[in-house]
Amino acid sequence: MENIRKKTVFITGISSGFGYLVTKMLLEKDYLVVGALRGGESRGKEIFAEQMDKINNKSLLFIDTHLDQTTSLNFCIEQVSQLLSGGIDILINNAGYGLLGPIEIQEETQIRLQFETNFFAPLFLIKKLLPLIRKRQGRILNLSSLVGFNVFPFYGTYSASKHAIESITEALYYELSEFNVQICAIEPGGFRTNFSASSKMGLLDHPEHRMYEKRIKRFNKFLNYVQEKIEKDPVIVTKKIIELCEAKKIPVRVRVGFEAHFNWILKKIMPDQLRIKIQDWLYKTFFF
Ligand SMILES: NC(=O)c1ccc[n+]([C@@H]2O[C@H](COP(=O)([O-])OP(=O)(O)OC[C@H]3O[C@@H](n4cnc5c(N)ncnc54)[C@H](OP(=O)(O)O)[C@@H]3O)[C@@H](O)[C@H]2O)c1
Repeated sequence: MENIRKKTVFITGISSGFGYLVTKMLLEKDYLVVGALRGGESRGKEIFAEQMDKINNKSLLFIDTHLDQTTSLNFCIEQVSQLLSGGIDILINNAGYGLLGPIEIQEETQIRLQFETNFFAPLFLIKKLLPLIRKRQGRILNLSSLVGFNVFPFYGTYSASKHAIESITEALYYELSEFNVQICAIEPGGFRTNFSASSKMGLLDHPEHRMYEKRIKRFNKFLNYVQEKIEKDPVIVTKKIIELCEAKKIPVRVRVGFEAHFNWILKKIMPDQLRIKIQDWLYKTFFF
């Protein structure tokens, strides 16, 4: 592995969505990609069957990883460290999912798993792989979201995990710039991936929780509407990620899509109390 001069990438969540598309594009551009996915090599070879026929077998390597399980995460870190012992040019913390719905009905285990996957796994991957990233004066790309800087009802726990990723991204920017290691949080709006289908919700199994029933129905309608009418081609985000892999200098935050830009402007121009009142009215009147 050491004598291969290709640029090296380690990316999580390559089985679908942005992770899948980015991996395909990186292979086309002749990067060496190590990808983490549940199901490892056997699932990976199925998903990337077309690419495996075209590329040198050593350009795409798979690691079976359940990011919400400590043993699996540690095994993954060991494997990446061996496979890319010469250094990592780019770490892409992409994998993630949404735990949605009212916070009150979410189980403690669900909330912990949300943070294990969306926050602790990326954080520990960064911490443990930093020596290899520093070796190449590499970069770290963290998939955040527009809910990493703005908050919606029923997106609270997911949003908190993305706010946490935003915080460590900015802190690490200050801490790592001295070593020429760059870092960026990518903040997409809604894009058509498997995200909506794989989102989870709390349980309505407690009599107290029934009070949310009506709003959850409206929320599900809203999600269907978003899926049908708002979500855009994920290639837009994929291209942005590739740009961030190749640009000389990258910003600490990058917003992608109309909703992300719109929410950012709202937050910047409106006094907080006014914005919250308007958003509250909008959510109650039109959404949930
Ligand atoms: N799509 C959007 O509109 C949008 C907007 C803002 C931010 N994002 C963020 O973008 C990132 C990629 O999501 P996507 O939209 O591409 O969704 P996606 O198609 O559902 O892909 C998510 C990926 O994460 C993996 N994953 C989830 N939980 C995992 C776990 N515990 N262990 C290992 N792998 C796990 C999934 O693997 P499996 O196939 O095994 O489930 C899948 O490969 C996420 O961090 C998401 O929060 C998405």
